[in-house]
Amino acid sequence: MSPAVFIEALQQELQLTQYGQYPPELYDPIRYIMSLGGKRMRPLMTLMSAYLFTDDWKKAVRPALAVEVFHNFTLMHDDIMDQAPLRRGQPTVHEKWNPNIAILSGDVMLVRAYELMLNVDADQLKPAMARFTQTAAEVCEGQQMDMNFETRWDVTEAEYIDMIRLKTSVLLGYALELGGLIGKADAESVAHLYEGGVNIGLGFQLKDDLLDVYGDPAKFGKQVGGDIIANKKTFLLIEALEQASGSVKEELTDWLNRSEFDKAEKVKAVTTIYDQLGIRQITEARINSYFAKGLKNFDQIKADAARKDFLIQFTQQLIERES
Ligand code: IPE
Ligand code: IPE
Ligand code: MG
Ligand code: MG
Ligand code: MG
Repeated sequence: MSPAVFIEALQQELQLTQYGQYPPELYDPIRYIMSLGGKRMRPLMTLMSAYLFTDDWKKAVRPALAVEVFHNFTLMHDDIMDQAPLRRGQPTVHEKWNPNIAILSGDVMLVRAYELMLNVDADQLKPAMARFTQTAAEVCEGQQMDMNFETRWDVTEAEYIDMIRLKTSVLLGYALELGGLIGKADAESVAHLYEGGVNIGLGFQLKDDLLDVYGDPAKFGKQVGGDIIANKKTFLLIEALEQASGSVKEELTDWLNRSEFDKAEKVKAVTTIYDQLGIRQITEARINSYFAKGLKNFDQIKADAARKDFLIQFTQQLIERES
């Protein structure tokens, strides 16, 4: 077995999956966003997690795809909310078509995700669906908190962590939990998979915040500086607001309070303040610590060490990702 086998199986299923035909304005954006690629890490995690407990991991492929379709739905709507121009190096759906099309295509993607989930075996279907539903609601809760925080200045780190746990981490947790459920893992291992996924998800979102400032535009695939433009309360900004004092703090709050500004100028100025405060290093240390926590959770899983190694190696490469 090599990890390429999981990617191959997923790719095949992606090609076979039909989302619908008419009207094309509803379905073309789905084919578009799904064809732009991305890391596919959530479905790969579901497959790797199922493989920990069963040789019949292929029965997890369609449910894994359900998680990926759900994820892509959240991206389509997130890009409207964040007014993002670029996704995976291409125009976002609301830019290429329009926001109404992105709303409705996203809605039908959520429906298709549920439909794909129905491929879970009958004896695990109910818990898999119940947890999927809970996770989906939590992602929406996190997304609303993310938007609420844009106009607040007193967001604490604890509030921020809670927000990213909901908008990002619980879905990584669920992707791993789902593989465990499908593989009929013991309840304790399923819990460790979920916890590990949540911790890795926290590190993953911190890395996303970091790349939003320091990423290479050619590799990142999204607009660099988008979070700064929107006054997103990212880990970097919360940390900077905490660390800054005197004239640096004044300059930072001045940029945050401006209603009219040149976008590039603001991004440059805030990034310079982050540089002065060493925010990058602080963020990197925190990313490493969440990933280490997640890997410790994986240690506790009762499964074959060689199989676990797939998951561990895959996770480790996410720390260094550039996109
Ligand atoms: C982007 O997710 C949204 C976040 C939770 C940060 P990914 O970074 O997994 O996006 P793709 O699917 O690889 O494009
Ligand atoms: C989004 O967080 C998480 C979800 C899509 C639920 P971001 O808004 O930071 O994700 P990107 O950076 O646009 O991918
Ligand atoms: Mg976004
Ligand atoms: Mg967002
Ligand atoms: Mg982001």
